[in-house]
Amino acid sequence: MNARSFILFTTAIVMMLGNAILHADDSSLADTNMAWDSKAIQSHVDIADIKGTLSKRKLDDLIAIGRKLFKASFTTEDGVGRPMATQAIIPTKRRRLPKNEFSRTAGLDANACSSCHNQPDIGGAGDFVANVFVSEGFQLADFDTTDPQFSNERNTNHLFGAGLVELLAREMSQDLKLQRSDAVASARKTGESITVTLETKGVSFGKLIAHPTGIVDTRLLAGIDTDLIVKPFTQKGVITSLRQFTVNALNHHHGMQAEERFGSRWTGDDDFDEDGYNNEISDGDVSALVLWQASLAPPTIKTDLPEAWQSAASRGRAEFDQLGCSACHMPNLPLESLVFADPGPLDLAGTLSSGELGIDQNAFYDLALMDWAEQLEKDDQGRYLVPLFGDLKRHVIADTQVDRLGNELLSQRFVERNVFMTSELWGIAQTNPYGHRGDLTTLPEVIEAHGGDARESRDAWLSLEKSAQSDVVAYLKTLVIEP
Ligand code: HEC
Ligand code: HEC
Repeated sequence: MNARSFILFTTAIVMMLGNAILHADDSSLADTNMAWDSKAIQSHVDIADIKGTLSKRKLDDLIAIGRKLFKASFTTEDGVGRPMATQAIIPTKRRRLPKNEFSRTAGLDANACSSCHNQPDIGGAGDFVANVFVSEGFQLADFDTTDPQFSNERNTNHLFGAGLVELLAREMSQDLKLQRSDAVASARKTGESITVTLETKGVSFGKLIAHPTGIVDTRLLAGIDTDLIVKPFTQKGVITSLRQFTVNALNHHHGMQAEERFGSRWTGDDDFDEDGYNNEISDGDVSALVLWQASLAPPTIKTDLPEAWQSAASRGRAEFDQLGCSACHMPNLPLESLVFADPGPLDLAGTLSSGELGIDQNAFYDLALMDWAEQLEKDDQGRYLVPLFGDLKRHVIADTQVDRLGNELLSQRFVERNVFMTSELWGIAQTNPYGHRGDLTTLPEVIEAHGGDARESRDAWLSLEKSAQSDVVAYLKTLVIEP
């Protein structure tokens, strides 16, 4: 195929993809043939059509499809419901049919992704009313109570800048892996055990001891799993990628099963949930959803402010450092590359990964093509400074005296109950309520609720004059989402 016919060919595919789904909702009266259709998804994206580095145009088309899918109110005609599957991440059969198909506790609990993620705009955070009852749900799948013995209640966090967050985590995981293999290699060479401090992008993850035998002692690691993979998603910091989370969420909230996990390749069954619909979400549909989320603009720091607010915010910024807040809520982390490979390199069974798909089949989304990219500041090494106010690390956040945030009864993925990942504070001005359960209505309340590793910092905040506390709040309220 020559270059021109390739362009025509890809344009035709994009138009086919685009038309089919772009007109699925938001339907104007002109789409008379679709206007009364009960399906939210008119046609599926074929992942084979989205490999290689995407042009800006193709990127935009796929983003538009992803946005439609994120906003789509899925229906039974799309395959909504999972009569015989639980909300569990690993495909798990129910023991018996649920009494009601929809349930606020074990799900289905919403019609669209955007039912919860909508503050201040689609892709955003959620009100308390949109909380989710998170349970890995292997044995206790059919819980019908909000009793915290059965699930952990979590408030919806926003997805702005999520692509940058995943890219940071991938680079950090790569660094840590290299540090481990270097340590093992030099222990072998010298015949002596070696202790290394694991650190990437200025964040320390404790220590590792490598022995000459090749055995690695991980007992001194801090804030990360022994696989050294930084898992930047969920407030617990236990999910690796947007792709993995998207496949989880589609099943949990909507009973829409992605082929890549629930299809016949993994489960031996095209209709694992036994609702009469096969292959409800294609690999390409998941890619579109991932790309839309990954391409969302990062929140920014508002500077166009009345003078009194600006000067309070400047004082608050300095206070934020002095109090030690920025030790965890690091104002920015440096990122080498804006190229987002999808499927990604770190996912395991049940989520499509680049290894599984074959590298020549991978898609590459160059986020530098997004309008927001040029506003990212760079450091003197040309790295993009991602202003997330986080460290992508887990910390103990409750102690015996200050235990408000130690309110969960179930550990998740072997992470202790009082341990959470540092919340990224970018966008915090518009994402109330606060805390992982969303039960704190003001910033001072959630700051006061910090215990454990943040206890000293929180005590320092409490001892401030009221006016200095107010300065910190003035600063935090400049961290905004501008859709
Ligand atoms: C019923 C409300 C609800 C619906 C519907 C919902 N989410 Fe979420 N979402 C949440 C909550 C709550 C969290 C935080 C979970 C946690 O911390 O354990 C979350 C977290 C996420 C995250 C991780 C973000 C981060 O920074 O940690 C992603 C990605 C995500 N959702 C994507 C989706 C997608 C895609 C859909 C639709 C397929 C969806 N969500 C539907 C409530 C919802
Ligand atoms: C030891 C690390 C650490 C330090 C130090 C720290 N925080 Fe946090 N912060 C966290 C963690 C972890 C959370 C998530 C808590 C939760 O919801 O479980 C959090 C949550 C928050 C939230 C709520 C975010 C949301 O979306 O609900 C705010 C606001 C906040 N911190 C501000 C501060 C301020 C201001 C300081 C300094 C006085 C500070 N933090 C010091 C780790 C830290």
